[in-house]
Amino acid sequence: MEIDPEQQYRRAMGAFTTGVTVVTAADAKGAWSGMTVNSLASVSLAPRLLLWCLGSRSARYAPFAEADVWGVTVLGADGEATARRFARAATQDLRSEEAETLAGVKVLRGGLAQLACRTHDRKQAGDHLIIIGEVLDVRVRDGAALTFFRSGYGEIAGPAD
Ligand SMILES: Cc1cc2nc3c(=O)[nH]c(=O)nc-3n(C[C@H](O)[C@H](O)[C@H](O)COP(=O)(O)O)c2cc1C
Repeated sequence: MEIDPEQQYRRAMGAFTTGVTVVTAADAKGAWSGMTVNSLASVSLAPRLLLWCLGSRSARYAPFAEADVWGVTVLGADGEATARRFARAATQDLRSEEAETLAGVKVLRGGLAQLACRTHDRKQAGDHLIIIGEVLDVRVRDGAALTFFRSGYGEIAGPAD
């Protein structure tokens, strides 16, 4: 039987364990929402740049593609329900009590790290938009991380936890 190359690629990348983040951005009316994202990568230290990739078919494409500033919250081991919630368009609205402000940007309370970013560049690549952000400010906390591996959530403790 012939192996579907797209399926094989999905399986290969599913073997690459990642952390889990929620990217937060406001629409043109100022309403904030969040999207579960595991494509986050660090790009540069000087200046501090990171990237994530936004799927072109997302129902929330416009606000995330067009945002000048946006937040990233790296989820801790207790963040699975949060990750599941922000992966669904119907439940992606950000409630004010679950958000806090960092450099004028809304991020989720809690989490292992919060980063406020300003869009530095965008590049269309296949069916995703690569969004590169300049890091404006960060907050970091100790704790175990939420992980994503082969379509499943897990957790990992750091050496100091
Ligand atoms: C663990 C995990 C990681 C994800 N990473 C990304 C990502 O990097 N980029 C992206 O566009 N969508 C990612 N998604 C999907 C989005 O969270 C969301 O489900 C998708 O944009 C569909 O949203 P929509 O209902 O607004 O169309 C991820 C989902 C999960 C569960």
